[in-house]
Amino acid sequence: MIFGAILAGGIGSRMNISDMPKQFLMLGDKPIIIHTIEKFTMCKRLDYIYIGIHKDWVYYMKDLLNKYNIDNERVKITEGGSDRNITLQNVIKKIEEIHGESNEHIIVTHDAVRPFVTIRMIEDNIDAAIKYGACDTAVSSIDTIVMSEDGDCISNIPNRKYMYQGQTPQSFNMAMIKNLYQDLSQEEKSILTDACKICIVRNTPVKIVKGDISNIKITTVSDYKIAQAMLGGMKID
Ligand code: CTP
Repeated sequence: MIFGAILAGGIGSRMNISDMPKQFLMLGDKPIIIHTIEKFTMCKRLDYIYIGIHKDWVYYMKDLLNKYNIDNERVKITEGGSDRNITLQNVIKKIEEIHGESNEHIIVTHDAVRPFVTIRMIEDNIDAAIKYGACDTAVSSIDTIVMSEDGDCISNIPNRKYMYQGQTPQSFNMAMIKNLYQDLSQEEKSILTDACKICIVRNTPVKIVKGDISNIKITTVSDYKIAQAMLGGMKID
């Protein structure tokens, strides 16, 4: 089976304009997370879509699914965890409890706060995860990336032609990503910034799927303003 996993267990501390996690802020006529869920529901190849939500916001999320007429047979809610990868593992656990374990299951993971994901990206992720076992959506880096080991002076400037910016979706053979994660030490887990790094630290290849610069992650107030402008609803100050 093919599952969507929308990761929404965060509280959006860098957004700082509301008591609500940023995924619930309005973008045009609906909350950010509803835009994201709707993109996933449009992809008919996904059998079920699981949302990993912060434990304090589970009931709020249930109300939103009802309010925006989301098919709650296909879209399910489960509790997130204390970091993004623990949220993902909680979602996997819930899926396996309900649908059973299988070496064939595919999971398409996505940040709740990337509402501009396209159906093409989701489809390409499914194809790449089936073929290669793991994939990441990425775009060529527009800016030159500078590296600094002490946060003060530049220690290296890698060749830009080899630099990409990672986005989501990131998709995997579900049993594989679960087993790789369980096999990591606490120290290895503490340095993970995303799910693909679970594969990278264990020398497991990750195929690149073409992303798009418009697939932004809404992290700060300026990202939120850009997202509003992208919808055509508001001018950027
Ligand atoms: N996420 C999650 N579980 C967590 C932390 C983050 O599912 N424990 C999700 C967020 O809800 C978000 C995605 O991972 O959809 C990307 O993370 P980020 O932008 O860092 O979100 P937050 O952790 O909410 O933001 P901040 O770091 O500013 O607090």
